[in-house]
Amino acid sequence: MAAQPGQPTAEPAPENPLTAGLERLPVAPTTLVIFGATGDLARRKLLPALYNLAHEGALPERFHLVGVSRKEKARERYRAECEEAIRTYSRRTPDEDVLKKLLQHVRYVPGVFDDDSVYSELGKVLDGFEERAGEPLNRAFYLSTAPEFFPVIVEQLGRSKLQHHENAEVRVIIEKPFGTTLEEARELNRDVLAIFDETQVFRIDHYLGKETVQNMLAFRFANGMFEPLWNRNYIDSVQITASEDLGVGTRAGYYDHAGALRDLIQNHMLQLLCHVAMEPPGSFTAEEVRNEKVKVLNAIPEPTPADIAEMSVRAQYAAGHVGGEDVRGYLQEDGVPNTSTTETFAAIRLKVDNWRWAGVPFYIRTGKRLARKVTEIAVTLKPVPHLAFSQDGSLGVQPNQLVLTLQPNEGVSLRLGAKIPGTRMIIRPVNMEFLYGTAFLSQSPEAYERLITDAMRGDATLFTRNDEVEAQWRICDPIVAAWAKQPGPLAQYEAGSQGPAEADSLLLEGQRWRAI
Ligand code: BG6
Repeated sequence: MAAQPGQPTAEPAPENPLTAGLERLPVAPTTLVIFGATGDLARRKLLPALYNLAHEGALPERFHLVGVSRKEKARERYRAECEEAIRTYSRRTPDEDVLKKLLQHVRYVPGVFDDDSVYSELGKVLDGFEERAGEPLNRAFYLSTAPEFFPVIVEQLGRSKLQHHENAEVRVIIEKPFGTTLEEARELNRDVLAIFDETQVFRIDHYLGKETVQNMLAFRFANGMFEPLWNRNYIDSVQITASEDLGVGTRAGYYDHAGALRDLIQNHMLQLLCHVAMEPPGSFTAEEVRNEKVKVLNAIPEPTPADIAEMSVRAQYAAGHVGGEDVRGYLQEDGVPNTSTTETFAAIRLKVDNWRWAGVPFYIRTGKRLARKVTEIAVTLKPVPHLAFSQDGSLGVQPNQLVLTLQPNEGVSLRLGAKIPGTRMIIRPVNMEFLYGTAFLSQSPEAYERLITDAMRGDATLFTRNDEVEAQWRICDPIVAAWAKQPGPLAQYEAGSQGPAEADSLLLEGQRWRAI
């Protein structure tokens, strides 16, 4: 529209030169089938992610979504539920046209997951889409159900010959938890790999889809200045924290059987450790990246019963105060037995026994109902060998520390020693900061947006390979087993606090936990 006389011409939106090069890779025509289509994950994460991909034009031109769930309901009812989930949880306010177009391609197949007729019906729906399209469409089966159904669904897909398709790719995406012990993970891998080839399997760890987790590899391997220091000669310790202010909420049924170690450390936090510790891959391909991560996991010694007492701490939150509100303790939460010995806080100290990392402690800690939500990796360098300024005094000279914050304020901060202005040589720590959001002026996509696209494109770099998942369990299984044998009650920490004082016992001399 032409500018009216006397009115300023609208300025074109400023280009952000830092995002030049942003592009969308094409995705082949695909039908995505979500098992557990009415569950919490589908509503809160998967459907909003699909909407946001549609919004950005990142879905394939021919895209269909089929929801499969136990509840009987009409297609229209399911579409209305999808719409409601998207309107409630999408990171963008939906554009009506985009939403309408997406919902037009949604179908629903009701039924219990071990019932053959569900799969014959599903087969008909998938074939129907292809007949209308006049071409074969890729198929991606997303298992977003309770984990006990994973083997059942995989077996049924095999029995009904849905695991392969002539002239099109078939993939299976499997949510966490991938087993609750090493043995279960092995069994599940056996079941899945009896039907699908490993190249068809995409095991989700949503942390790998976070922009900032991927940025860690860019940070390490696209900059020359850190890598020479990135080893036992210069690094004193590594601390990885994933703290949450929320409690167990409505998930007690799942969480009380899982606990903090299985819920976050076995998967997300060991992945973060791998990103810190891995060698540079020859190229950024699924196999090479995952080979390097597996090498790191294999270099972590399996904890022995004697180690476990010294290298692990667990605790439960007691009543306290979070975000200005009084909150209940874990044992008083709905659905939690009052004798529960499930940990809501876990901290462990690991070694990575290889040339690069020998002797460097890796501390990992996670917990619910802590002071605030933060996920960060802090790499502390060794102190300088001699402090020449000590005669003038200094305000707490501290070793350099590099902190990679993954959330909530994604960025990198480097602690340096600097001189306080004035006539004397007094040093104090200052921070040099880079904030992701400020630099790129863009909102990072949700992890699931990236992961769904990659799975549809067949790129498994950001998914956990079978040997990786087993290596993670090899580290966590002995701890889980040892804890299970220890009698309760567990150490407690006040909700809204920094966690249990017992966590300090893991720290080697001269080290301390960062404030949460
Ligand atoms: C999930 C856990 O995998 O990760 C949850 O099951 C946890 O208990 C969540 O709250 C944390 O994810 P994020 O992306 O919020 O850090």
